[in-house]
Amino acid sequence: MGLDANFEEAKVPEYNLPDPLIYLDGTKVTNGKFWFRKRRPEILELFERHMYGKMPGKPEKMSFEITSIDKDALQGKATRKEISVVMENNHIEIQMDILIYLPNFQPKPVANFIALNFFGNQSIHQDPNITLSNQWMPTKIAYGIVKHRATEKSRGVRSSKWPVELIIDRGYALSTIYSGDIDPDFDDGFQNGVHPLFYKKGQTKPAADEWGTIGAWAWGLRRAVDYFERDDDIDNSRVIAMGHSRLGKAALWAGANDQRFAIVISNNSGCGGAALYRRKFGETISHINYQFPHWFCENFKKYNDKEDELPVDQHMLISLIAPRPVYIASAEKDLWSDPRGEFLSAKHADPVFKMLGTGGLKVDEMPEAHRPILSTIGYHIREGDHDVLKYDWDKYLDFADYHFINV
Ligand code: GCU
Repeated sequence: MGLDANFEEAKVPEYNLPDPLIYLDGTKVTNGKFWFRKRRPEILELFERHMYGKMPGKPEKMSFEITSIDKDALQGKATRKEISVVMENNHIEIQMDILIYLPNFQPKPVANFIALNFFGNQSIHQDPNITLSNQWMPTKIAYGIVKHRATEKSRGVRSSKWPVELIIDRGYALSTIYSGDIDPDFDDGFQNGVHPLFYKKGQTKPAADEWGTIGAWAWGLRRAVDYFERDDDIDNSRVIAMGHSRLGKAALWAGANDQRFAIVISNNSGCGGAALYRRKFGETISHINYQFPHWFCENFKKYNDKEDELPVDQHMLISLIAPRPVYIASAEKDLWSDPRGEFLSAKHADPVFKMLGTGGLKVDEMPEAHRPILSTIGYHIREGDHDVLKYDWDKYLDFADYHFINV
């Protein structure tokens, strides 16, 4: 299969979206009580069974160790903490390391962004005291990742995507974890990473309706919240899940599953994230399953080139976050992620948010670039490519201020 894709709006087919407010038996959801009791679980189960796979609950054992703390980080404006979280199930252990920057001037507990990263915690900032990851990662010489391991040269290589000082100056904490601590991003038949911790006797890979790698990353974000609940510096009513691209898909799925995330932010999450599949614009189900066979559950492959048969579409993923605020961001040149499809998911999730008594999405039409929409559902599109820029973070901070200061 080649990767030819449609990038022309005129070639988007006609499609009918499943209605988030109609039960599987064809009747209509009439109020919020039934949404939470019946329809929301129905939708969540469809996403589990057909797309992301079921994820397990907490492991049998979790231990947390603060491995470093520096109250004088970033020229004194922040406290840097590192925490090793060891999780054990079926006598197998896995460790994920959380890096946290806390603003020193801000009274504790503080609101906190949690976002996974692609190349190790040391890649987000030049700070020489961040522990260098020793996990497998994709080789990328330009980033100082040699023979699948981070070197000193990888410090801060992704700092343009992580404006730590800005986040701290605005009074928020930033937490991050290397996604590969939870599950390395390659198709090894699910032998490394967290999946084997939960195999039943004789099981060697997840069943057709069990989690893939995106499910595992989402699970890891949830386990980070288990840690935050023990950390007095962090306000557990103000934890924000943020993710870019594949990690944005994971942030949305984590937020859909776990109401402890007060706000969810998707940056250019595209196919399998915020974008509607039925538009078949840019990346499609068959593209994503072909290039990344380990991301979703096995059942999802049944929908290759059959998006209209899928019982859900991504506006329903957004609706699972309601009534909590959710922000979707697109980039004009990021056509592979289908910016319009990302906006339309927000728009078609709006009836659920409105039924639950929120303001929903305050516009009907997709805004122009650099005209951010602040409402319960937030949205912006900016000029430029698939990336996370300071511009994006600025808007996420505005969105968080808007909701947290207005509550
Ligand atoms: C690929 C993939 C996308 C994904 C992106 C990323 O382009 O096709 O689905 O979002 O990688 O994670 O950067």
